[in-house]
Amino acid sequence: MNRHVASEPPLPVAIRRATVADAEALAEFGARTFFETFAKDNTAEDMRMHLASAWAPALQRAELLDVQFDTLLACDREGRLAGFAQLRVGHAPAGIATVKPVEVLRFYVDQPWQGQGVAGLLMLAAQDQARARGARELWLGVWERNERAQAFYRKHGFRKVGTQIFVVGTDPQTDHVMLREL
Ligand SMILES: CC(C)(COP(=O)(O)OP(=O)(O)OC[C@H]1O[C@@H](n2cnc3c(N)ncnc32)[C@H](O)[C@@H]1OP(=O)(O)O)[C@@H](O)C(=O)NCCC(=O)NCCS
Repeated sequence: MNRHVASEPPLPVAIRRATVADAEALAEFGARTFFETFAKDNTAEDMRMHLASAWAPALQRAELLDVQFDTLLACDREGRLAGFAQLRVGHAPAGIATVKPVEVLRFYVDQPWQGQGVAGLLMLAAQDQARARGARELWLGVWERNERAQAFYRKHGFRKVGTQIFVVGTDPQTDHVMLREL
């Protein structure tokens, strides 16, 4: 009997490494997606303070030039950003035994692309990049109230190993620290 195997159409998104020329687009995208994700759960002043401290072309330019950072972009066929992952070497989760950790410092997918597989592509690329750095573990902090992101990370092999504080503006928030071996 012939069996038809349906295959998913390829995702119209490709992953590439960011360069300093992407600083402006990344600053706009990062600020917008952070705002869209978290504005409803934070005061306007805490959001303003956080955005000013983390997202501006000069800040992203410095990070893109920093050899400790690896930034991966998911871009659609027109070259527009659909998501990004930012890895940072040299930081270990406090109080957690690790051999050679790399941190997923930021991981964002634009709303229209959520649930489409873009995040999974980015996560595989992030793991490959961390392995290329010689990492043995990938770890991250995710807000205790961000259940969608936690579910995504669990699906990709991360488990909760602790907590840490992440300050948004003036508000100290509890993050789950999640880790997976590579
Ligand atoms: C976190 C993020 C990258 C995940 O990408 P995604 O495309 O949404 O991920 P997926 O859809 O593959 O997986 C999310 C899972 O959470 C589930 N989910 C959706 N909403 C949920 C909710 N409110 N609570 C719990 N789980 C939820 C989904 O069903 C899915 O699981 P499934 O595949 O088993 O059905 C993306 O949602 C995002 O960029 N969010 C905004 C920014 C952010 O929070 N970044 C993380 C910072 S640490």
